Amino acid sequence: MRILDLIEAKKIGRALSSEEIRWAVGAYIRGDVPDYQMAALLMAIRWRGLDASEAALLTRAMVDSGDSYTWTPPTGLAVDKHSTGGVGDKVSLILAPLVAAAGATIPMISGRGLGHTGGTLDKLESIPGLRTTLSAARFRAVVEKLGFAMGAQTEALVPADRLLYALRDATGTVDDSGLITASILSKKIAEGARALVLDVKVGSGAFFADLEAARALATRLRAVASESHVACSALITDMNQPLGCAIGNTLEVEESMQCLSGGGPDDLRELVLVLGAEMLRLAGLAGEGRARLEQLLDDGSARERFLAMVEAQGGDAGRVDRGGLPRAASRTSVTAATDGYIAAIDCRALGLAAIALRAGRDTLDDVIDPTAGLIVDKRLGDEVRTGEEWLSLHHGAGADVDRALNLVHAALTISDDPLEAPPLIHEHIR
Ligand code: URA
Repeated sequence: MRILDLIEAKKIGRALSSEEIRWAVGAYIRGDVPDYQMAALLMAIRWRGLDASEAALLTRAMVDSGDSYTWTPPTGLAVDKHSTGGVGDKVSLILAPLVAAAGATIPMISGRGLGHTGGTLDKLESIPGLRTTLSAARFRAVVEKLGFAMGAQTEALVPADRLLYALRDATGTVDDSGLITASILSKKIAEGARALVLDVKVGSGAFFADLEAARALATRLRAVASESHVACSALITDMNQPLGCAIGNTLEVEESMQCLSGGGPDDLRELVLVLGAEMLRLAGLAGEGRARLEQLLDDGSARERFLAMVEAQGGDAGRVDRGGLPRAASRTSVTAATDGYIAAIDCRALGLAAIALRAGRDTLDDVIDPTAGLIVDKRLGDEVRTGEEWLSLHHGAGADVDRALNLVHAALTISDDPLEAPPLIHEHIR
C-alpha cells in the first residue's frame, strides 16, 4: 500500500477500509510513513471526516498498536473519566484520587496540551520529579497500592496515540470528531477501563462551540465505547469560561490542591462531585455517592491519596503539600476598560494566551514553562469597574507577553446590563 493513495482517497472523501486504516497506523508507528505525509492524511480527514465505521476501525487499530491492560478490582469495574478538552480543566487531578479514595480502581492514561487546551500530563509534570511515562509493572504497582495511577501513552501502550496526538497538536488537526473519538477511546480501552464517564465540553473554549456538535461527539463516543464493551455515559459541560480561575500547569496544580483540601472554586468542586458520583454509579459501587465524595474532599482523604500518587510516581510530594511549587518570575495585571457586567469571555483566546506565555506548545519541540499561565478573577455575569483587575498573566523567560495581552484584551466583552451565566452542566446522556 502507499500512503499517497490513502491521502488522495481521503482528499476526495472516500471512506478508508479496515486494511487501509490498519496499514497507515502500523506504517506510521514503525517510522515508514514520515510526519509530513501523516499530517497530510490527518488534514484530509479533518476536512472530509471519518464515518462511524472508520472512527471505530481507527480506534481499534490504535488500541492494537500496543499492549492492553486488564484489571480485576476488589470491587466494581475499573473506571475512568476523560474530557474532550478545555481551558483550566484540572478535574482529573482531583477526581482520580477522590474516586480511588472511595474504593474505585482508576488506571488513568491521559494526554498533554492539545490545540488551545491544557493537558493533564503537562500539569502533573510541573511537579518536580513526577514521571508520567511508567512501565507496565510500575503503573500496575501504583494502581494496586493506591487504587489509581496517572500515566502517559508509551512506546508499548497506545503508541499510535502517543505519536498522532503530538502531530495533531502541531498541525491544526485536532478538532475532528472521528480523530477525537479514536484518540480518547484508544487510551481508555487499552488502559483496561470497563466503565467511562465522558466530560464533553461545549462553548468558546471547547473544540466544538455549539451544543448540537457536542451532542454528536458524545453520541459517537458512546457508540464506539459500547462496541468495545465499555459502559459509558456523557455529560455535556460548559466551557464558555475557564473551569476555576487558574490556567497553566503549576497554577492548576495549586488550585487542585485547594479543591483537594475541601476548598477551591465552586464550579470546579461541583463538576468534580457530579463526575465522581457518575463514575461510582457506572463502576457499580452501590452505596457510595456524592455525600461520600464530599466527605473525602473535606476530611483530607483525597488530598492524602493525591500526595501518595505524587510520591509513588517520583514527585516531590512534600513541596506540593507545603505550597512550595515554583512561581513565575513576573506578573502582569489586566484591568477592565469600562464599567459593566462580564457578558462573554473568548475562552479559546485565553488558552492561546497561556500558550504565548509558554504554558503550552506551538511546535512539537517547544519546551513548556511550568510556572506560566493566567489567573482569571471574574466569571460570566460578574460586575466590573473601570480599572479593576479581571485577570493576571504569570510569565518568565521567553514569554510573548504582548501577544498574550492582545489576546486577553480582545477576549473580554463587557455589557451595560446584567445577564445570566450559562449552566455548568448542559446535559447528561446516560
Ligand atoms: N483528549 C484526547 O485524548 N484526545 C483528543 O483528541 C481530545 C481530547
